[in-house]
Amino acid sequence: MRNITGLKAGKYHYLPLEHALEFLGEVENMEDVITETLSGQSWAAKANVVFYWTIVPYRAEWRYGIYAHRVALIDVGHVGQNLYLAATGIGVGGCAIAAFQDEICNKIFELDGEEEFVVYTMPVGTIRESDKKEEQAFYQFVEDEGL
Ligand SMILES: Cc1cc2nc3c(=O)[nH]c(=O)nc-3n(C[C@H](O)[C@H](O)[C@H](O)COP(=O)(O)O)c2cc1C
Repeated sequence: MRNITGLKAGKYHYLPLEHALEFLGEVENMEDVITETLSGQSWAAKANVVFYWTIVPYRAEWRYGIYAHRVALIDVGHVGQNLYLAATGIGVGGCAIAAFQDEICNKIFELDGEEEFVVYTMPVGTIRESDKKEEQAFYQFVEDEGL
């Protein structure tokens, strides 16, 4: 993440039980690195923050057996949808991305690719005024409804 008030640019790990962020370190040439992780989708690398969701399959497998992977993927879909809702609620934009490079993502977050790996990503960021104009009716609705 970068250009976020109160937070240093770099990579972070979200700790759900504490609802806190753990700083993992700075990333040199962050925009280029993000572009690489997202298969060359450089527009996505301009976002203020890019979420990379991982799964630890065992945490579902011990409980759900052969259904574990179905449950895990439904789960990450819910998380993504909730991020869309949260982003819309504060007036920023998000875009689900599945065309990411597994190995590069896993390397950046020091994941082994077997016990834990990235399954979904979403850049979230400020919407340019020019883009807002294109979708004026939608944003007018959001404003009128006080959303
Ligand atoms: C699981 C999933 C993965 C996606 N992956 C990509 C992607 O890698 N690149 C991309 O440009 N759009 C991707 N999309 C599509 C966008 O997230 C978005 O839904 C699409 O651009 C439609 O947006 P719009 O309705 O605002 O036009 C993906 C959507 C989903 C649900």
